[in-house]
Amino acid sequence: MVNIKINEMPVQIKEGTTILNAAAYANMPVPSLCYLKGINEIGACRICVVEIKGVNRLVPACNNTVQEGMEIYTNSPRVREARRTNVELILSQHNCNCPTCVRSGNCSLQKVANDLGLFASEYERDIPKKHWPVTFPLIRDSSRCIKCMRCIQICDKVQDLNIWDISKTGSRATVGVAHNLQITQADCALCGQCITHCPTGALRERDDTLKLSSLHGAFSDPEKVTVVQVAPAVRAAWGEELGLSREEATPKKLAAALKALGFDYVFDTDFGADLTIMEEGSEFLERLQNKEKYTFPMFTSCCPGWVRFLKSQYPEMIDQLSTAKSPHQMQGAMTKTYFAEKMGIDPDKIVNISIMPCVAKKHEADIPNINDSGHGKDVDVVLTTREVVRMIRADHLDVKKLQEMEFDNPFGTGTGAGVIFGATGGVMEAALRSCYYLVTGKNPYPDAFYMVRGLDGWKEACIDIQGTTVHVAVVSGLGNTRKLIKALQNGEAEYDFVEVMACPGGCAGGGGQPIHDGEELAGVRGDNLYFLDRTSELRFSHENPDILKMYEEFLEKPLSHTAHVLLHTDHHGWKMPNEG
Ligand code: SF4
Ligand code: SF4
Ligand code: SF4
Ligand code: FES
Repeated sequence: MVNIKINEMPVQIKEGTTILNAAAYANMPVPSLCYLKGINEIGACRICVVEIKGVNRLVPACNNTVQEGMEIYTNSPRVREARRTNVELILSQHNCNCPTCVRSGNCSLQKVANDLGLFASEYERDIPKKHWPVTFPLIRDSSRCIKCMRCIQICDKVQDLNIWDISKTGSRATVGVAHNLQITQADCALCGQCITHCPTGALRERDDTLKLSSLHGAFSDPEKVTVVQVAPAVRAAWGEELGLSREEATPKKLAAALKALGFDYVFDTDFGADLTIMEEGSEFLERLQNKEKYTFPMFTSCCPGWVRFLKSQYPEMIDQLSTAKSPHQMQGAMTKTYFAEKMGIDPDKIVNISIMPCVAKKHEADIPNINDSGHGKDVDVVLTTREVVRMIRADHLDVKKLQEMEFDNPFGTGTGAGVIFGATGGVMEAALRSCYYLVTGKNPYPDAFYMVRGLDGWKEACIDIQGTTVHVAVVSGLGNTRKLIKALQNGEAEYDFVEVMACPGGCAGGGGQPIHDGEELAGVRGDNLYFLDRTSELRFSHENPDILKMYEEFLEKPLSHTAHVLLHTDHHGWKMPNEG
């Protein structure tokens, strides 16, 4: 421990603590912009400068540590002046049109400038503007970029993809796609992690909310039947930006909000997740029983960010992906076939909308060969959690006062196994619960496979199913995924079944989830999903009565011909830009 003073107040704190953390600990927080713990500690923006007694120059608090006897001033007139100048210089190259910025109200630059009382600036403005393909699911607005380099670092250090780079130096420096590529030509997985770690509105998802009405006439054409489905991870995050506590933001309240927005049917993607388990679990057992025909491990395929990564980085492993579509695509195909037939609805009138924690799913819905209903795309529009929150705000819904509503049938029932799809390890755990049943004819204890839970980036377990040992692994984050694949290639690891999620912590920490600058919420959101699992009446996908009924009435059995046509896909049917 060292003894220091912050703004004359004595503080005792662990040696090696940064001044930024020491000040926050002492309840005298220092503003920061470029700093991202453990990822970007380059001291670039100099917003966090503080004065240290006896030291001539001001020092950044984010990358300097406390020393015994240090006397720190976090808000002296000299500090305030320097901070104002530094923010003004950033603003001189920034498009300050806040009303038309997606991050207005949730922007670290806006907050810092407002807190400093910067309402006018003397500096001449020079705002960069670069062309960007607006149809790509990830949008970069260089006029809002403050060159903090967080996106570069998160993509390099966490996702190991190096999509972004900085060119030129000093005030001419710009951040853009590395090697002067167009983003459409790069290997971007579309995980969206650079978006959720950008402090400003320079990165965002393509906004598809207007497309709903303009392209699909969703709310304006009375003939159209709008069917919306909600991914597991969305329920753990949607209330965060609407002032709801986790207890208030229930899935049923979200269903009520979606009804109030005007959607005709509100379905639960937990149903699609249960269906995925029936297909993917059966596929895994089939591969296990015919080991000589396949290369192992089999990889899960429900994360389109991971599928993009595999196809661009390791195309030779594509056949190891499960052929199962992701849950929302399966559900989309079933909506335009089974549901339409059952309800007597013309499938061409259906507009399928998925609310996802994910940016990559916007791309997935557009893949031409993942559309098998014969009535256009399986899923017509994908909206992120953030987009649907904006729709709720635009309609001025008072969500607190809404009465909870049930999801609609027949795709309204999901099990606890379906809900944990939203957390890292959840798909594996759900699959193991059903694989165990399919092999032994008995249910395991529902929490028997708890060892694949938790936020570790790479987890493994050995499971005994009636005398057969199954080696499984779970990874989240593409950097961890690359490490696992290298270990497989070097013979240092061997598994039968591997779950991969592109986003650290899984979809709970997805690139389309609400943004809280400097906070990682995958853990708390995941806990919320495990709570929903624990308190579910049904905890096994193979016990979902509506899934069983659908097999009986329509699909026959898992891996049947109809199931193959509607619920599986050929991953060779489309290409990443640099796929071999
Ligand atoms: S895009 Fe965002 S994260 Fe990347 S450098 Fe610009 S402001 Fe920083
Ligand atoms: S979306 Fe993911 S892969 Fe693409 S640039 Fe951002 S962090 Fe990198
Ligand atoms: S982990 Fe989830 S949110 Fe992230 S890219 Fe994959 S499916 Fe999308
Ligand atoms: S936050 Fe410390 S220099 Fe940017």
